[in-house]
Amino acid sequence: MAKIGILGAGAIGRLVAQRLRKADQEVTLKGREPVQENDAELWLICTKSYQVKEAVAALSPPCDVPLVLLCNGLGPHQTLAGLVSNPLYLGTTTYGARKSEGAVEMTGRGQCWYGHYRGSKAQLGLVHRVLNLALPPAQCFDNVLAPLWRKLAINAVINPLTARDKVANGALLADTYQAEITALVTEMLPVLAAEGQAFTKEALVAQILAVAEATAANTSSMLADRLAHRRTEIDAINGYLCQKAQMQGLSTPRHLALWQQITALGEH
Ligand SMILES: NC(=O)c1ccc[n+]([C@@H]2O[C@H](COP(=O)([O-])OP(=O)(O)OC[C@H]3O[C@@H](n4cnc5c(N)ncnc54)[C@H](OP(=O)(O)O)[C@@H]3O)[C@@H](O)[C@H]2O)c1
Repeated sequence: MAKIGILGAGAIGRLVAQRLRKADQEVTLKGREPVQENDAELWLICTKSYQVKEAVAALSPPCDVPLVLLCNGLGPHQTLAGLVSNPLYLGTTTYGARKSEGAVEMTGRGQCWYGHYRGSKAQLGLVHRVLNLALPPAQCFDNVLAPLWRKLAINAVINPLTARDKVANGALLADTYQAEITALVTEMLPVLAAEGQAFTKEALVAQILAVAEATAANTSSMLADRLAHRRTEIDAINGYLCQKAQMQGLSTPRHLALWQQITALGEH
């Protein structure tokens, strides 16, 4: 039995902790309090994307302990790579969880995609076993950036539009949204291609609409954050996309406008 650390006692952190404990694993769930014993063999990072840097800096894990980043979006993986020398794994999940009065409710069963990102691969088996107990089925990718970019591309449309217009995901299936969705996808494709992620316009639009349909009644995480006057994760989604575009000499005016608009709405 491995000692597993979970950093971030929020919705996903608590869900993962609960499921690992049910599977008889030894779990330390760490919030903002100072760490007592830093003897975990693996840390799962379950904070929001913009909280990763501060949370990991305070944790200061021994440098041979693997870290598995489970937050949404891209960008924190590079921040983390510059901050610590630990072996790094990246993951993302489509499970849904909500905190309620100190407990956690699983709002949707999903899956987990993960892969090795940097450093020693020696703990890949442990990472797989833990993620497959916590968020099954866990699927390992040789190039973990592929599923992360795919999720980012879908989130970069569904999240800001639903948050801007205060609508459930299924509203995006209406005819009135189709031209805007296609334009956002068209703008993204060259950026994705420059990152080695090949999509056709038709395939990506179809994937976005399929997710909107499958989650039609859901409030996106960005809309939930907006309604709760919390900071959103737009910097790690449309923000990351726009920064990559700028580095590649590409123009993404619609994504830039959404990034600025959602940022301006944030925490008000
Ligand atoms: N919830 C879901 O259904 C779901 C599904 C898929 C993916 N995700 C992704 O998973 C990530 C976490 O989401 P979540 O919904 O679990 O968010 P959350 O409920 O806000 O949990 C984040 C937790 O991290 C804690 N934290 C922040 N800074 C910290 C620090 N310096 N040290 C220790 N803990 C710290 C927060 O504490 P405070 O409350 O004190 O700030 C909070 O308990 C996000 O990237 C999200 O997009 C979530």
